[in-house]
Amino acid sequence: MKIIMLGAPGAGKGTQAKMIAEKYSIPHVSTGDIFRANIKNETPLGMEAKKYMDEGKLVPDELTVQILLDRVAKEDCANGYVLDGFPRTIPQAEVLNDALEKMGDKIDYAIDVAVPDENIVNRMSGRRACVTCGATYHIVHIPPKVENVCDKCGSNLILRDDDKPETVLNRLKIYHEQTQPLIEYYTAKGVLKTVDGTKDMKDVFADIVSILG
Ligand code: AP5
Ligand code: MG
Ligand code: ZN
Repeated sequence: MKIIMLGAPGAGKGTQAKMIAEKYSIPHVSTGDIFRANIKNETPLGMEAKKYMDEGKLVPDELTVQILLDRVAKEDCANGYVLDGFPRTIPQAEVLNDALEKMGDKIDYAIDVAVPDENIVNRMSGRRACVTCGATYHIVHIPPKVENVCDKCGSNLILRDDDKPETVLNRLKIYHEQTQPLIEYYTAKGVLKTVDGTKDMKDVFADIVSILG
């Protein structure tokens, strides 16, 4: 099963993708997580990506596409995957589509986690992230057991550099300009499903499971 998560920054793509990955035993592939791991390890890719991410801009397609194609070519993706944060532009979607088509394959579901802009800024300012294992928390909705410590791996939690309110507004603007057109793109392909992302995260997940079966 090959799944794409669509939705604004902070809609809950990552939260839901992790639960999908666990339930259906497929890898969770997040380009944002891949970039953040590279930033943490100070790789050349990470240094380049950081310039864009800190301003809430998209990392150029030239840097993003090959990383994603290499990742999904790995053995653990043979039975499917859930993509979180990719594609984010029509050209990225086209590259993925062409790569899959060459293998006689396709995306099964594109799930749009719909959340209005008004809800987003509040969610982001409360988010805390673990850069070591990728787990995410929310100081009010999903707090860690010990303040600022990851339940899963014990690392310290951070407020992402791009979660400052002014950067979030820029990310939202770019989402509407560059990523939202993908909703129409996947509707035309007949694979778009929309869930109400304002519900409690467990209810959002139940809605997704009823779609995936
Ligand atoms: P990325 O890491 O993908 O960030 P994003 O799309 O902006 O999305 P977020 O991770 O911020 O939000 P999310 O939808 O995963 O929400 P979450 O589950 O954490 O990308 C970061 C940057 O990398 C981009 O800006 C870009 O620069 C670059 N990049 C990445 N991929 C790229 C690509 N393909 N092309 C170009 N550039 C790329 O939830 C948010 C918060 O809400 C959390 O605190 C969570 O606990 C809480 N929450 C979740 N669900 C609920 C709920 N139902 N109710 C209440 N709270 C909830
Ligand atoms: Mg995410
Ligand atoms: Zn962790």
